[in-house]
Amino acid sequence: MELKFADRMKDFEEGIFQVLNEKKNERLAQGKTVYNLSVGTPDFKPAQHIMDAVAEAAKKPGNYKYSLADMPELTGSVIERFKKRYGVELVPEEIMSVYGSQEGITHIGMSLCNPGDGVLVPNPGYPIFAIGPSLANARLITYDLTEENSYLPDLEGMDDEVLKTVKFMIVSYPMNPICKTAPEGFYEKLVLWAKKKNIIIVHDNAYSDIIYDGRKGISILSVPGAKEVCVEFYSLSKSYNYTGARMGFLVGNKEIVANFKKLRSQIDYGTFFPVQYGAIAALTGPDDMIKEQCREYQRRRDALCGGLRSIGWDIKDSEGTMFAWGAIPEKYGTDDVAFVMELMQKSGVLCTPGSSFGSLGKGHVRFALTLPVEEIQKAVRAVKESGMI
Ligand SMILES: Cc1ncc(COP(=O)(O)O)c(C=O)c1O
Repeated sequence: MELKFADRMKDFEEGIFQVLNEKKNERLAQGKTVYNLSVGTPDFKPAQHIMDAVAEAAKKPGNYKYSLADMPELTGSVIERFKKRYGVELVPEEIMSVYGSQEGITHIGMSLCNPGDGVLVPNPGYPIFAIGPSLANARLITYDLTEENSYLPDLEGMDDEVLKTVKFMIVSYPMNPICKTAPEGFYEKLVLWAKKKNIIIVHDNAYSDIIYDGRKGISILSVPGAKEVCVEFYSLSKSYNYTGARMGFLVGNKEIVANFKKLRSQIDYGTFFPVQYGAIAALTGPDDMIKEQCREYQRRRDALCGGLRSIGWDIKDSEGTMFAWGAIPEKYGTDDVAFVMELMQKSGVLCTPGSSFGSLGKGHVRFALTLPVEEIQKAVRAVKESGMI
């Protein structure tokens, strides 16, 4: 039988990542060092009280049933966290858990869009921002994030006729991959604009706790009136290193949450109880670890961005996220893929080609700050010794 798969599967071929992975494994097999700064998985561990809560709950046989819904204590812990962390008051109907923001962003378009509805997504942007709406057969309309527009959407410059076809817009600051934060007043402006244009805002807030130089990570829901048009994805992956447990939340507009819950009730039977208990421990627990971790990320950022600048590569300091972003040196043109490959071969430093985040990422690279400072310093030295810069 000749197997024929959906055309969309062609979009998911691993391509460069598979090749890079093979090259990395080849290097490791030869006993050579690899500085893996490509994957955004935190190398920190979750706090002990979080792991204890999961372990305790995992010992109880009753916790292996379908959970079907979020426990009221879990919803309550989100209410507590949003009040304490962002000054945002939530009610239970404004909250639902997702298997990480990734899953939520993958599916929310299916609950909001009919085929052909427009969705505004950033370019460059985190890949699922485009993949999710595409799976819902929505029509992607990219908005450019460039130095000229301070890496913000040009709201006033958008065509009104096009905007009439748009169902929702995905926004995310601090932003992966470009590592920029939203300036004060931006969300206020965005919320007003969204109301006027009748467009739902989906804010992905994965990095509000990894933000540098005294900047404050906020929730878009702290803007007056935001709940009329906004929902936000809040993730436990990066703030609490609860990454593999797959726990995040959609919070905000009640109707959007209820509508999305209806879709997800068809897809899954609820989050494993021990994962819910661990999340409660995280959300209601102390915050010192989160703040110390942020300081450590900042030290790593300084080592990487400052280190690369000191050897002649102008990588600007990230404003937030666990990444650094910059253009490849001019002499390499815009072929970020070839550059990443050569850098890997000559220095052992592995980073991610910017073009994997959209056409405006071409000619750029993204580094993950997932190694300790001393390792990052060694990686910078390896880049210098490669003679590539
Ligand atoms: C911007 C952004 N959103 C969402 C995610 C996925 O987070 P989660 O683990 O909650 O699915 C990531 C992970 O790197 C991310 O960078």
